[in-house]
Amino acid sequence: MVRAEVLICVFCIVLVSTSIVEANESVGVNWGTMASHPIHPQIVVDMLKANGIKKVKLFDADGWIIKHLAGTGIETMVAVPNDMLSIISKDYDNAKDWVKENVTKHMYNGGVDIKYVAVGNEPYLTAYNGSFVKDALPALKNIQKALEDAGYGGQIKATVPHNADVYDSSNNKPSTGDWRSDIRSLMIETVKFLHSTKAPFVVNIYPFLSLNLNKDFPLDFAFVDGGGKTTNDNGVQYSNVFDANYDTLVWALKKSGVPDIKIIVGEIGWPTDGTDHASIDLAHRFYKGFMKKMANKKGTPLRPGHLDVFLFSLLDENIKSIAPGTFERHWGIFRYDGRPKFSIDLACTGQETWPVAAQGIRYLPSKWCVLKKDKKDELGKAFENVNYACSVADCTPLGWSCDKLDKTGNISYAYNIYFQMQDQDVQACDFQGLAEITDVNASQSGCNFPLEIQSAGDRLKLVSVTNIVFLLFIVITLM
Ligand SMILES: *[C@@H]1O[C@H](CO)[C@@H](O)[C@H](O)[C@H]1NC(C)=O
Ligand SMILES: *[C@@H]1O[C@H](CO)[C@@H](O)[C@H](O)[C@H]1NC(C)=O
Ligand SMILES: *[C@@H]1O[C@H](CO)[C@@H](O)[C@H](O)[C@H]1NC(C)=O
Ligand SMILES: *[C@@H]1O[C@H](CO)[C@@H](O)[C@H](O)[C@H]1NC(C)=O
Ligand SMILES: *[C@@H]1O[C@H](CO)[C@@H](O)[C@H](O)[C@H]1NC(C)=O
Repeated sequence: MVRAEVLICVFCIVLVSTSIVEANESVGVNWGTMASHPIHPQIVVDMLKANGIKKVKLFDADGWIIKHLAGTGIETMVAVPNDMLSIISKDYDNAKDWVKENVTKHMYNGGVDIKYVAVGNEPYLTAYNGSFVKDALPALKNIQKALEDAGYGGQIKATVPHNADVYDSSNNKPSTGDWRSDIRSLMIETVKFLHSTKAPFVVNIYPFLSLNLNKDFPLDFAFVDGGGKTTNDNGVQYSNVFDANYDTLVWALKKSGVPDIKIIVGEIGWPTDGTDHASIDLAHRFYKGFMKKMANKKGTPLRPGHLDVFLFSLLDENIKSIAPGTFERHWGIFRYDGRPKFSIDLACTGQETWPVAAQGIRYLPSKWCVLKKDKKDELGKAFENVNYACSVADCTPLGWSCDKLDKTGNISYAYNIYFQMQDQDVQACDFQGLAEITDVNASQSGCNFPLEIQSAGDRLKLVSVTNIVFLLFIVITLM
């Protein structure tokens, strides 16, 4: 007891002193790009800056995106995708080439502030059936060595983002936390290696999934606002699943002999559509509690203080795989077009604000594709087309945020979203003669029928057309 009090007091002092010397807490975001019509990276970077976001985590190393982060001071985590783990683990030269092309190139004076290389993404996830288990650690070692050989060993660390399913506990007691039995020795070797290179352990924690995957899960325990019934772990009280899950990891690390390794939460967030409990209201509730914890530097019972976190996610992504669930395309704090969904304290000031939307987005013309009025008796045929449209475009709001639509509303939604995804190509609004294009906003029953935006690729084309016209103009004037 006495020892515990002394410890708490030491933490008080640490807390007080850090809050005096340190700048405001800051939070990072995951920037995924699995969208049919991605926003131009410059617009996204401006949006990050406008919202006080100083850290970003990417899922690959697309040079076109990364170069827009140059000179911004935004700390960046780039990533080796899972499908490259095998070749990088097999041959050190491949790791060297990867680092040269995807890291070194950006490290000029005034370049990109790359801090981490994520080697794979959740490679030990149970759902991957072990496909990446043998390659992840050797790939991590090769990338780390390549960073060191390139002269960046001190500045940039290689790590592996893990799903929280790499560890578990019994009776929900964090103190029983340990690595999943099938990968236990691999995890111990991995964390010892990370510790030796002073790299962080990265973990993705999803209170939403705890709730979504288990119908008996107590709703309030998924949120971080103190509403949950607390559970007791040998005198330590847990009022939410985030703290309990994080501290389960802390115990597993302690048992592996690396009690003080830095932890980064690589992904945490809440989706807003596509399934039960995925709504703007509940996402708002989650972020409200979580960002308050961040701003107050509350930490968890075993690791009070600063938390290093990347929110998942910045933007909705309409072509993400829905194998994990129909909520997958709706994790964005911002919609597909960069408009915010709810107020949130992104800059960790202690105050929620309505985020600054992406500036300079251009939409496709105000045209929608809908089921023809006189075809409403051909629903059978119309439905066959719906299946096709929805296998290409994103229909996951149907039955959820768009649950008030009737049958014909459902059909029109599917036709329209497909038509938008095909850049409003006239031929994409035929559906065996059942569909028509209209310039009347087709949104109905509280369901927005979105207009797509001009894809970043198209913007480039537009810019170059304008340039050519401009050049011609100059040439003609000179003649
Ligand atoms: C750089 O990273 C991208 C993945 O984002 C990959 O496609 C490319 O092959 C990498 N370059 C090298 C030389 O490995
Ligand atoms: C893993 O195995 C399951 C069941 O055999 C299968 O349905 C799934 O497609 C497999 N996943 C991968 C990534 O191989
Ligand atoms: C830090 O947070 C305070 C509010 O707690 C705010 O007034 C101030 O502008 C913030 N500073 C920075 C640099 O964001
Ligand atoms: C509309 O589609 C959704 C998703 O398939 C379905 O759950 C819902 O019942 C449909 N609505 C009607 C009125 O058929
Ligand atoms: C169409 O109507 C919906 C619902 O009123 C609205 O939210 C949306 O902004 C409108 N779209 C356009 C392009 O005006």
